[in-house]
Amino acid sequence: MEKNFKRTLVTTALPYANGPVHIGHLAGVYVPADIYTRYLRLKGEDVIMIGGSDEHGVPITIKAKAEGVTPQDIVDRYHNIIKKSFEEFGISFDIYSRTTSKIHSEMASDFFRKLYDKGEFIEKTSMQYYDEEANQFLADRYITGTCPHCGNEHAYGDQCEACGTSLNATDLINPKSAITGNQPVLRETKHWYLPLDKWEPFLRQWILEEHKEWKPNVYGQCKSWLDMGLQPRAVSRDLDWGVPVPVEGAEGKVLYVWFDAPIGYISNTKELLPDKWELYWKDKDTKMVHFIGKDNIVFHSQIWPSEMLAYNGKGSKGGETGPMGPLNLPEQVVASEFMTMEGKKFSSSRGIVIYVKDILARYPVDAVRYYISVAGPESSDSDFTWAEFVRHNNEELAASWGNLVNRVANLMNKNFGEIPALDESEMTDEDRALLSETKAAFNTVGSLIENHRQKNALSEAMRVVGDINKYISATEPWKIKDNPARLGTVLHVAAQAVSDANHLLAPFLPHSAQKVWEALGGTGTF
Ligand code: MF3
Ligand code: ZN
Repeated sequence: MEKNFKRTLVTTALPYANGPVHIGHLAGVYVPADIYTRYLRLKGEDVIMIGGSDEHGVPITIKAKAEGVTPQDIVDRYHNIIKKSFEEFGISFDIYSRTTSKIHSEMASDFFRKLYDKGEFIEKTSMQYYDEEANQFLADRYITGTCPHCGNEHAYGDQCEACGTSLNATDLINPKSAITGNQPVLRETKHWYLPLDKWEPFLRQWILEEHKEWKPNVYGQCKSWLDMGLQPRAVSRDLDWGVPVPVEGAEGKVLYVWFDAPIGYISNTKELLPDKWELYWKDKDTKMVHFIGKDNIVFHSQIWPSEMLAYNGKGSKGGETGPMGPLNLPEQVVASEFMTMEGKKFSSSRGIVIYVKDILARYPVDAVRYYISVAGPESSDSDFTWAEFVRHNNEELAASWGNLVNRVANLMNKNFGEIPALDESEMTDEDRALLSETKAAFNTVGSLIENHRQKNALSEAMRVVGDINKYISATEPWKIKDNPARLGTVLHVAAQAVSDANHLLAPFLPHSAQKVWEALGGTGTF
């Protein structure tokens, strides 16, 4: 836990390419991951951030069916829209790829094949739900019903999003076809199951004993699932969209989307760094951090690690046999809670949603990043409201930070035309105190970001901004125009402090960081 790593691999949940991303996704996963990554880059660390679209599975085929187009049409359309939104929002991926790439199908197929050859799957014929009118098996989101754990009536065949539990379709009470609304019948079919129970003792030790530092929402969910006991999970599906199951006798069957999607983190790293990807996945000095939403916790803490453990064999956590050894398990699984919109659940279908292009047509991107950093669902559910968005921006970002930068830049321009020199003999305790405060804040803010407490980190940075404002009010530079040595020193100290604050805020406000830098007379990229 206190280990020093040489590099960091940041992954972000791959969004389904079945609709645009909205503010809820950005606030929960992508902005926090971006802040973390930008911070590490500013610190000069070796870090890469991997993203991509999740283009397989029932979420895609349902959308295609609803629109009367092919799944490929859907993923082509939304992959591009999503990718563009991330760019506009300044999410600084080193690569944003997709799970329909050739590299990915090969990687996912080889992964499955390796587990198959090692005998890591259970092959089982069982009765599964089938829709006789639609003529197809009903897996995952094709079937809905009541969750046996929490009573949510809209649970899916693979997961209840209300309580996060992972389900098998046959666990649902009152199952219904999502295609026709019919009561499904049972039919025989063969699938491959990954025995999660085999890895349960390992997962217990690894998470519950060795990762007590994981945030309570992740740790707590893991504990309750592990205490309920893990079951074998089917990792194939009767579907015609996905990575084909690469074994004899598997015609018409594809990999379960949640089996292939996390492998996308590896495929996308390989696409970015064809010769170096293994260093990021296998070296013991690489730290892997998964950023996800809370509905993804079960997959990233039980199913995906079990896949990697089966791949590695002998319960290996990776890292111990040098760069080409087994895959590393994540050091951190960082999951946010949910954000609502004016008190209601974000829902594209019900129009309760804010899309990136709409909000950015009206507001600067950093204003939005600021608000979702202040009000995001970091450790509890939170609510996006327009009134609060406007208030935080007016009262904090504009009144406190924007105003400070303008005041200092104007005073310098008017009186000196550049950053004035510092005259040591003019320095007061007040000047020294301010600069030592801004320097000390690098440690405080940095370690809060490293510990995924970004809201506290941002409020620390803003407290520093408040103190620089107080310094200006107290030193009243506009009243000491006839003392250029003292005036120059005050403005030099103020400019230094503003530049420090700009560095503290840069991971949160990357676009304005550049402008502030230039306003202070900086050249080149910040
Ligand atoms: N597409 C999934 C979702 O939107 C997330 C997939 S994350 C990955 O909930 F690990 F599978 F990549
Ligand atoms: Zn439930």
